[in-house]
Amino acid sequence: MSVEMKSQLGTWLDETWEKTKAKMSAEVERVGDRIPYIPVDGKYAEDKGETDIYWWTNGFWPGMLWQMYNATKEEKYKAAAEGVERRLDAALEGFEGLHHDVGFMWLHSAVANYRLTGSETSKTRGLHAANVLAGRYNPRGKFIRAWNEDRAGWMIVDCMMNIPLLYWAARETNDPRFVYIAKDHADTTLEKIVRPDGSCNHIAILNPENGELLELPGGQGYESGSSWSRGQAWALYGFALSHRHTGDDRYLQAAKKIAHYFIANVATTGYVPLVDFRAPAEPICYDTTAGVCAACGMLQLAEAVSELEKPLYANAAVQILQATDRRFCNWNVDEDAIVGNGTGSYHGRHGDYGVPIIYGDYFFIEALLRLKEKHFLIW
Ligand code: GLY
Repeated sequence: MSVEMKSQLGTWLDETWEKTKAKMSAEVERVGDRIPYIPVDGKYAEDKGETDIYWWTNGFWPGMLWQMYNATKEEKYKAAAEGVERRLDAALEGFEGLHHDVGFMWLHSAVANYRLTGSETSKTRGLHAANVLAGRYNPRGKFIRAWNEDRAGWMIVDCMMNIPLLYWAARETNDPRFVYIAKDHADTTLEKIVRPDGSCNHIAILNPENGELLELPGGQGYESGSSWSRGQAWALYGFALSHRHTGDDRYLQAAKKIAHYFIANVATTGYVPLVDFRAPAEPICYDTTAGVCAACGMLQLAEAVSELEKPLYANAAVQILQATDRRFCNWNVDEDAIVGNGTGSYHGRHGDYGVPIIYGDYFFIEALLRLKEKHFLIW
């Protein structure tokens, strides 16, 4: 770590890590192997394992637990993570409700377990999920389809964060087909979703027969052509990860371009992103989850670029994390969730607007552990 970075961090990193340990220690006692999403009045009441076993965020809690276990070696984190992983078998076995987000669900649970403990049962679960993801590949359009029902030609930027499951499966099985699918999807994302200025669409609707571009809806952002900040974060971190797994320089250049766009925008709002970088000035609506995810992507980028380039990405990541902490983190150990003011989508008014959301906490913890050099790569 550079002298400049050490001085930017000061005592903040160690103090924040101590608070994270205290908070997570209390939280795992309360939550155990239930599957949390959004707290109500400071408590995780809903258990997604009961209400929606297929919900796309169901891996983030075990992901937090495995990061905590890896960093602290405290058994209670492992026990709770293993419990969630077993519960997710109902989704693998049910199959019908599965979707493109199987990466988010099983990279953070079964694959993380396998990486840390070598569990063969967990490896099988991970490979099962990878085959589900690969099975969604459209060989004419060269993309992994999003969602289910009548959306055969839909692809979304979020899926850049799911394809690391395929890179992992290729290595485990010594079968390059998984990489071919992942790279085809990344290449189609580069072509159809990343714009020349470094901003990104959320959704591209393609003709599923031949891959022709039909429509670019606004998705979870303000409108078509706007710039949903979490989508930008998925693309930034997703391309940085595809570069890490493949060494393909085009992915590194894409991640850098998206990062430059993200940094320029987030700097205008005190390093906490608006939910959409191209929305009307009012109402002001933040999405902290986009910031902390992008910070992880920037820290990943900082590892991939030359020494002279590192400070740009590392400093921006730290600015985002410190601003998020200062403005929106809750360190009360008697309440659940750390990072407040996350927002699911610009037009959503269904309980995911300006609230703590489980993936915000996951990325905040991953970023802290990256800075402390105590994280393991879950992606
Ligand atoms: N992957 C869905 C979302 O970011 O809300």
